[in-house]
Amino acid sequence: MTQRVAVYPGSFDPIHHGHLDIIERCCTLFDEVVVAVLANEAKKALFSPEERVAMIRELFPGRTQVRVENFSGLLVEFADQAGARVVVRGLRAVSDFEYEMQMALMNRRLNPRIETVFMMPREDYSYLSSRLVKEVCALGASLDGLVPPSVLARLRERLVPRGAGGEGARR
Ligand SMILES: Nc1ncnc2c1ncn2[C@@H]1O[C@H](COP(=O)(O)OP(=O)(O)OP(=O)(O)O)[C@@H](O)[C@H]1O
Ligand SMILES: [Mg+2]
Repeated sequence: MTQRVAVYPGSFDPIHHGHLDIIERCCTLFDEVVVAVLANEAKKALFSPEERVAMIRELFPGRTQVRVENFSGLLVEFADQAGARVVVRGLRAVSDFEYEMQMALMNRRLNPRIETVFMMPREDYSYLSSRLVKEVCALGASLDGLVPPSVLARLRERLVPRGAGGEGARR
């Protein structure tokens, strides 16, 4: 039987519960989910591609259904090499739609064998983005329930100056 493989690409700088929600949904539909961490980005990242991959891998111990890899270059080529016919993207709001549609149609043109599939997260996560997570963390506010504890610890190491924020901010 052929394996149904999906690639879920993004910058994941860092991964948050909106991303995890989409990955879990993928696991109910596909035999394998390849989380593809984009390395060659225009936007300046807080974490290196290797750090981002490591943080995601840590969240799926023993879960062979979820593979996490770095990639750069053309997504459709990466998907082909991974044996995937599907690229999954999350849709939070209408504001995501225009960019996503451009990407999906361009990718279809580049490789018509690969379909883009969109998934909606749980409503609670529909406003969540890595950018917002970093902003809120840098300001010392709580991110409980929005990012996994291991990711939160790394975010604080990097963003909250030692001694700043007080005890309340660390909870
Ligand atoms: N809260 C969320 N719910 C569902 N999908 C999401 C959510 N956040 C991001 N995604 C999806 O995850 C994929 C990777 O997105 P990306 O790495 O840009 O995350 P991001 O949170 O949007 O980060 P940034 O703020 O840096 O753009 C995209 O398909 C994006 O639509
Ligand atoms: Mg984004």
